[in-house]
Order: sequence, then structure tokens, then C-alpha cells
Amino acid sequence: MADPKESRIFTSAKLNSLELKNRIIRAGCFEGLCQNESPSERLLEHHRAVAAGGVAMTTVAYCGVSRNGLAFGHEMWMRDEIKPMLGRITDAIHNEGAKASIQLGHCGFFASPRVINQRPIGPSSKLCTFRMSFSKEMTEDDMNQIREDFGKAAVSAKEAGFDAVELHSGHGYLLSQFLSPWTNTRKDSYGGSLENRLKFPKSVVKHVREKVGPDFPILIKMNLRDGFHGGLEVEDAVEVAKAYEKAGADALILSCGFTAKTPLYMMRGKVPLKGFINSQDTLLLKAGVMLFGKFMVQEYPFEELFLLDLARKVRAGVDIPLVLIGGICSLDNMETAMDEGFNFIQIGRATVRDPEFVNKLQSGVITETDCDHCNRCIGEMADTGVKCVCLEEGRALQG
Ligand SMILES: Cc1cc2nc3c(=O)[nH]c(=O)nc-3n(C[C@H](O)[C@H](O)[C@H](O)COP(=O)(O)O)c2cc1C
Repeated sequence: MADPKESRIFTSAKLNSLELKNRIIRAGCFEGLCQNESPSERLLEHHRAVAAGGVAMTTVAYCGVSRNGLAFGHEMWMRDEIKPMLGRITDAIHNEGAKASIQLGHCGFFASPRVINQRPIGPSSKLCTFRMSFSKEMTEDDMNQIREDFGKAAVSAKEAGFDAVELHSGHGYLLSQFLSPWTNTRKDSYGGSLENRLKFPKSVVKHVREKVGPDFPILIKMNLRDGFHGGLEVEDAVEVAKAYEKAGADALILSCGFTAKTPLYMMRGKVPLKGFINSQDTLLLKAGVMLFGKFMVQEYPFEELFLLDLARKVRAGVDIPLVLIGGICSLDNMETAMDEGFNFIQIGRATVRDPEFVNKLQSGVITETDCDHCNRCIGEMADTGVKCVCLEEGRALQG
């Protein structure tokens, strides 16, 4: 069993110009705490607690680069009006001795028409069965606009005191929709070959790099696999990683899954059907998920380090720092990540279960999480704010 005093996981490392006190980053986990599409005091308190819990950096989850990139209510989108509050959040994180990152993205074809009051846009026209909406194929003007929005949002994040930005190019969000043959069926120079499908996402990364300057850390969350026949596969993901390295990324977070098709592939574990029903926009959709949810949301068994095998293929193909994510439950799992050549790790559910998880590991009070991957935190995050639902119902924490 690994000894926390000897473990490389608690040694510092650099991400571009940024010094991180250890190798552990809190993964973007949508908090559901942005009522009125703006960050709240509860969001500040959430990240203050995570930062105090020992991670080197915490990631404030999904922030739309524009309003038409929102998938749910309670999501924020970047604009001047929210910068003062974001500044208070980064101050609170820094005061606890951690660094702050923010996940910037656009959800493309699965935007909620009810939230954005318009037809969603995507690489191609596509039916989203979760929304029963049909997206509009993006024009060059749309692409120019969204690229600008990414650049502006990254600059705003930097001005609000964030130490890094994380661009969402995984989980079937807009940039991942361009990469995936399932959502990108364009016949022009943005569709077809992988080189063509990479054209828009790569241009976004280059643009963000130009806007934030050479020293500011850019992480990119990308898919190793979309998780279904006809989606992006790992051989292409190795090429995407190489392209992002060239375009100016500082680190890649290697995830998987497609929110609008295989939402639990990126997480594994039980299906929180009740929560999914509650999170639907309309009564009709609630009824649809109630009746057909079992067929719409596939269950994938949980395994520790469930992305390690696929992530090794990217590790072999690029030099850029890599972040392993997915089912990292214990100090032993973290040691394995370091032994396998990953530079950082990201952790989601273990820190939702217990924000003090990292401190407890480091002090030797515990050696692993007691989260059982029931995923009810996901099912209920959009309604009342993310939390460990089991804990709320009285299942005690260890340590
Ligand atoms: C409650 C919850 C919300 C999540 N929201 C996001 C999100 O907004 N953006 C994202 O990229 N991933 C999101 N994820 C996925 C996590 O970042 C991570 O990829 C996944 O949980 C696997 O890591 P874990 O096994 O350490 O939990 C979320 C996960 C959870 C549990």
C-alpha cells in the first residue's frame, strides 16, 4: 500500500507557468449553483470547501462561452456582469491555498431550446432525443462567432483571477461534436476526414492561446472514445491529442462519453433514473424518460481507473502533460497514475462525497474514498446543487 509521505502525488509540479502544490485537481463537476445564469454565494462556498480540502486546483464547472451554449437552467455563461462574483470565488479559493480553473464550453446541438429561447446550433442538423429538438447546421459566421466567444470568455476568466482555463472538447459538447463522425456529417471542409473535423476545434484552441498569451495555462478535456458504434475511437483520439498539443494546449484531460447519448459512460456505476426524470425540461419529456429512460440511459459497470487502458495509448503518442481521470478512488490508484507517466489526476465524485478527501489521504486517516458510485449526485445536481445524496440521507463519512 502506498505511503502518503513518500508519494509523488503530493509533490509540486508546473503547468506552463503555474506551480501546483500537488498533482490533484478537482474535476469539473456541474454544481447546479448558478441560479439566474450567474454564480452564487453557494458556488463560492462549495469551491472554498474543495480548495480547503487539499487539492492543488479546483475547477469551477461548466460556464457557457455564450448564452446559446447552455444545456440546463442554473448554468452560468461568461459576461462582464458576473466577473466581480467570479473574482470573489477565485479570491476565496486562493485564500485556502489552492489554484482556480474554470471549464469553458458550448453544448452545441443539445442546448436546451427552453433555456436559450432559440434553435440549438451544431456542426450538422441533428435530432437530440433527450430534448426532442433539431439543431441547425453552423455557418462559417456561426463558427467565427463561437471562436470569438471562446477567446473572450478565456480572457474574462483570466481577468477574474482564474489561474487556468479548461476548454471542454469532450463529453459530446460542441468541440467534441465537431470531432465525432456521429454528430459531424458536414460535406464541406469541416467534415469528413479527421483533419477536416479537427479544423474548427483546433482553430478555437489557437485563438484562445493568442488571446490569453503564451504563459497562461490551457487545459483541454477531450474524449478517448465517445462510447458507441459510429463515434470517435481511441486511434483518432491520439491524433486529436497531437493536434491540440501543436495548437497550444498545456495539458489534456482524457475522458470519454457523450452527454446526449451515453451520459453515464464517462462516470460508470448505477443509473440515477429518478434524478434524470426530474431534470427534464417539460412534463412530456419527464414522462418520456420515465417510460423509456431504461432504454435511453445505458448502465456501465464501475471499475477503478476505468480509463487507464485507453489513456495509455495517448500517453505513448504525445509529450504534453496528461491528466488521468475516471474512477480514481485511492492513494494506490493515484500512484498507478504517476507510475504510468501521467502528470496530474482529476477527481470528481470522491470530492463531491467529501471535500476533505485529499487532506484525509495525505494525513493517512484514510486510504480510499467511501463513495459507492450510486451517481445520485448527478441525478439531483441541477435541482438543489451538487452534493452527496447518500450522505444527506445519513450514510456517515469515514475519517
Ligand atoms: C455531479 C457531477 C457533475 C459533473 N459535471 C461535469 C461537468 O460539468 N463537466 C465535465 O466535464 N464533467 C462533469 N462530470 C464528470 C467528471 O468531471 C468526471 O469526468 C467523472 O465524474 C469521472 O471522474 P470520477 O470517477 O473521479 O468521478 C461530472 C461528474 C459528476 C459526478
